[in-house]
Amino acid sequence: MTQPDLFGVPEFGREGVSLLRGFALTDAQELVAAIEAVARVAPFRHMTVPGGGRMSVGMTNAGIGWVADSKGYRYDHQDPLSGQPWPALPPVFTHLAERAAQAAGFGFTPDGCLINRYEPGAKMGLHQDINEGDYSAPIVSVSLGLPATFQFGGLKRSDPVEKITLHHGDVVVWGGPARKSFHGVLTLRAGHHVIGNHRYNLTFRKVLG
Ligand code: SIN
Ligand code: FE2
Repeated sequence: MTQPDLFGVPEFGREGVSLLRGFALTDAQELVAAIEAVARVAPFRHMTVPGGGRMSVGMTNAGIGWVADSKGYRYDHQDPLSGQPWPALPPVFTHLAERAAQAAGFGFTPDGCLINRYEPGAKMGLHQDINEGDYSAPIVSVSLGLPATFQFGGLKRSDPVEKITLHHGDVVVWGGPARKSFHGVLTLRAGHHVIGNHRYNLTFRKVLG
């Protein structure tokens, strides 16, 4: 596949979706350090979904946190494990998300970040991000560490999906007509990476309307 190397040039053939290759590279070390600092306070955990299954992706949050349990999905200011507020959004997170959104043509300040950790074998099924209060804001998604195959579809689960490999430092922004697009991640393959043999994903949202 040929890839435009200009930031902000849509690589997906869908309106409202931008792939910003390498946009987070210069901040990557600082982002990983900030992730690890968050995880010392609010450790990665495998949440249980309403059907009773355990998610293969380890999760924690900064800012307003996304939580799954047997009762459903919700946002919460507190980490249910500790009863304490989730760690604040690190400034390096917020600045990166703002700049990426701007490069993709959106004005955006996040108030929550879901931090996903994929070990080899972990995956995330096709889903929509639809628990937020402000759909005028885009989703900003940052990939770090091992590469993963990202699936990006349409507004219906049955719509065709595009598959694309996301590498360390890549950022995907989706908003506007694409805000409620189905997306997911195929099973992570084992590999070696200088940040550790796993993949982190930061998903920035505007939770409060
Ligand atoms: C997500 O949709 O929460 C994660 C997407 C990704 O890991 O790239
Ligand atoms: Fe998502």
